[in-house]
Amino acid sequence: MKTPETDLPRLVVLVSGGGSNLQAIIDATASGSLIARVAMVISNNIDAYALERASNAGIPTQVVDHNDYRSRAAFELALREEIEPHDPALIILAGFMRILSADFVARYAGRILNIHPSLLPAYTGLNTHQRAIDGGEAEHGATVHLVTAELDAGPIVRQARVPIMADDTASELATRVLEQEHRIYPEAIQDMLQTQKAASLGRSA
Ligand code: GRF
Repeated sequence: MKTPETDLPRLVVLVSGGGSNLQAIIDATASGSLIARVAMVISNNIDAYALERASNAGIPTQVVDHNDYRSRAAFELALREEIEPHDPALIILAGFMRILSADFVARYAGRILNIHPSLLPAYTGLNTHQRAIDGGEAEHGATVHLVTAELDAGPIVRQARVPIMADDTASELATRVLEQEHRIYPEAIQDMLQTQKAASLGRSA
């Protein structure tokens, strides 16, 4: 039997850009491979195409622009005010280009996921595709991980590998990695939700 919409675990997705990972997550909820509902999409960038993707899918959106706040603490307080009414099972960072403070992360410990375009722990930070090519690597990939206070360093939930071809440009490699991101992110989210459900059943048994 299909779970009624209102009983589905809720996801709040934070974005800054194109939102192709957001789209993969929306598509997975629509196809039923991800049993969850995207309750809200929040962007720190008003021009993010991800906002349009959310609207097209009938998902409420909110812009919380870090430039409008005097401090990171004030920005994060505004983010929390948008997130908390949804009481999300998970907060999903999908191309969200702001670093979250230890205080923010602690509030949602074990409930924030990020996807990073490298085989972590290798190549944390930015420009990972070019750096992997320059580093003479044979392989590159993507990692879904839990967010902790340290950047790109939380426990790994899922990884996907792709080969680096001899004449690859960073953009060709990024395209190949993104395809894998779109596959593993919804899978990783579904896994995490299953784990949460098993833990809560265990508690109530
Ligand atoms: C992806 O490469 C993701 O790994 C990184 O930012 C990019 C976001 O792409 N964190 P999109 O906005 O989901 O298309």
